[in-house]
Amino acid sequence: MAADEPDRRKFLKVTTCALGAGVGIALVVPALRIVAAPAGTITVTGPSEPLDLGLVDKFRIGAEPRKVEVIAPMVKDAWTAARNVVLGAAYIRRTAPDKIEALSAVCPHLGCAIGWDPAAKNFLCPCHDSRFEADGARMTGPSERGLDPLPVSVVDGRLQLTWVRYRAGSASREPV
Ligand code: FES
Repeated sequence: MAADEPDRRKFLKVTTCALGAGVGIALVVPALRIVAAPAGTITVTGPSEPLDLGLVDKFRIGAEPRKVEVIAPMVKDAWTAARNVVLGAAYIRRTAPDKIEALSAVCPHLGCAIGWDPAAKNFLCPCHDSRFEADGARMTGPSERGLDPLPVSVVDGRLQLTWVRYRAGSASREPV
C-alpha cells in the first residue's frame, strides 16, 4: 500500500495541473478573442460606393460651378460607426444636358479648401494663391497639378459621386 503512495501523489499532481491548465485556457482564449476581435477584419474608413447628391436637374446647364458637401450616410471602422460624416466638398459643373463633371474642392498643393472666384470666373486657393480654370486645369501658383476630378454618374435622374482623396503636393494624381 505504501509503495502506491508516490504514484497516487504523482497522479493527483498531474491531474490537478491539467485541470488548472484547462480552466486557464478556457478563460484566457475567449478573453483574447474579445480583445483581438477586430484584428484581421477589413477596416472601412470611408465609403467607396457612389454617394447620392440629389436630382441632377438641380444643376443648371451652363451655370457657374456649384459647391456641394460630400456626406457619407455611414462611415465605419473596426470599433465605431458614424452617420452623416462630411468627407469633403466638390464643385459640380454641368456644361450640357448629359455632360456633368465634379472637381474636388481640396487644393492639390497642400490641401486647403479652394473657392470659386465669380469675378475672375476661375477657382482660387486662398492659402498660397494657386488658381485653376473652371474645368480644373492649373493656371498659376505652387500647385503642381490641376484640380482633381471625381467620378460621377447619373442613375434614375440622380447624380452619384464617388469621393476620392488624392495625395497633395505632387504633380501626379495618386489616391490616398
Ligand atoms: S494649399 Fe492651395 S495653393 Fe497651397
